[in-house]
Amino acid sequence: MPNTRILATGRAVPDRVVTNAELAEKIDTSDEWIRQRTGIEQRHWIAVGESGSGLALKASERALAKAGIPASDLDAIVYATSTPDHFAPGGGVYLQRDLNVGTIPALDIRTQCSGFVYGLSLADCYIKSGMYRTVLVVGAEVQSTAMDVSDRGRNTAVIFADGAGAAVVQACDEAAGSEILAWDLHSEGAHAELLWVDAPGSVYHPRNQAEHIDSKGYLSMDGKEVFKHAVTRMPESVQAVLDKGGKSTEDLTLLIPHQANLRISEMVQKRLGLRDDQVYNNIQRYGNTTSATVPIALDECLEQGLIQRGDLIALTAFGSGFLWGSALIRY
Ligand code: UT7
Repeated sequence: MPNTRILATGRAVPDRVVTNAELAEKIDTSDEWIRQRTGIEQRHWIAVGESGSGLALKASERALAKAGIPASDLDAIVYATSTPDHFAPGGGVYLQRDLNVGTIPALDIRTQCSGFVYGLSLADCYIKSGMYRTVLVVGAEVQSTAMDVSDRGRNTAVIFADGAGAAVVQACDEAAGSEILAWDLHSEGAHAELLWVDAPGSVYHPRNQAEHIDSKGYLSMDGKEVFKHAVTRMPESVQAVLDKGGKSTEDLTLLIPHQANLRISEMVQKRLGLRDDQVYNNIQRYGNTTSATVPIALDECLEQGLIQRGDLIALTAFGSGFLWGSALIRY
């Protein structure tokens, strides 16, 4: 059975920077509140004409360039998004089209903030089964176009943002020294409505109703409840992959947690007993980009030389669903 390794990563965010001060002009909030309660200093939102699949394309092209392989080497695309460009089809086919690759499969997955972790697990299975050799895994989101930028939506509008990250994942042999060592994946649909976008949904007759736009069409979150589950599930899940891989927290070079709130990451760090240099955070600059937070952060860590080949790293994510999970990787 081959091993799986991440060959290279890429990221892309829109040029438009939205500061806390800009939001405070439209919403009853303040730079101080947002920094203290979330750690966020700024985020990126798309401009008219940009799209999630467009960000995914840029991130993927950068990842492919760093990997030093042409898009034609890809065997499959796994595209994680909770905010596809259109209700149907998903975003993967637009990326397949725009990368100008052959008729390779492009699979969308809807696992929200855990999207990249889930997507990577699929790529790992495709590769280990021998079905595919090179898989592109993408997390791409545009949250800004369905956010309630008003006092009513202030607990989400200050947090969520746009961006994309991509990883080229490839089969390798044992001599390469890289390996995905363990997985831990979960869901708990009992809490589905604590962080969701109610409409449009095919449960409604008709699916598209004008009055839903304002009443059910925005991302809605019970922040306190989500927070409580996030700070329990992520440490639990990281510990699970460490146990499965026969490793301990001291062995970890770096943990990359989903960037939901800096206070959540700090609590995850504390509960696992990790040092500051063992946990990477960049929510200050990007906000919460849902499925894109983990690959964007991974790309920054690689660019800064914080991760070297052979290092032990863990990825963990938690979000809407609820869905959560972790990967333990010998990079
Ligand atoms: O991506 C994965 C899922 N997402 C998350 O994991 C996010 C989890 N939740 C959170 O990050 C936090 O719960 C929030 C940042 C959303 C909220 O922080 P909090 O400390 O839990 O605040 P809270 O909801 O308990 O609200 C405290 C107060 C409330 O006012 P009152 O009722 O005490 O008068 C809110 O109305 O803060 C108020 N508030 C705000 N004030 C200024 C909520 N949002 C804002 C805001 N600016 N943007």
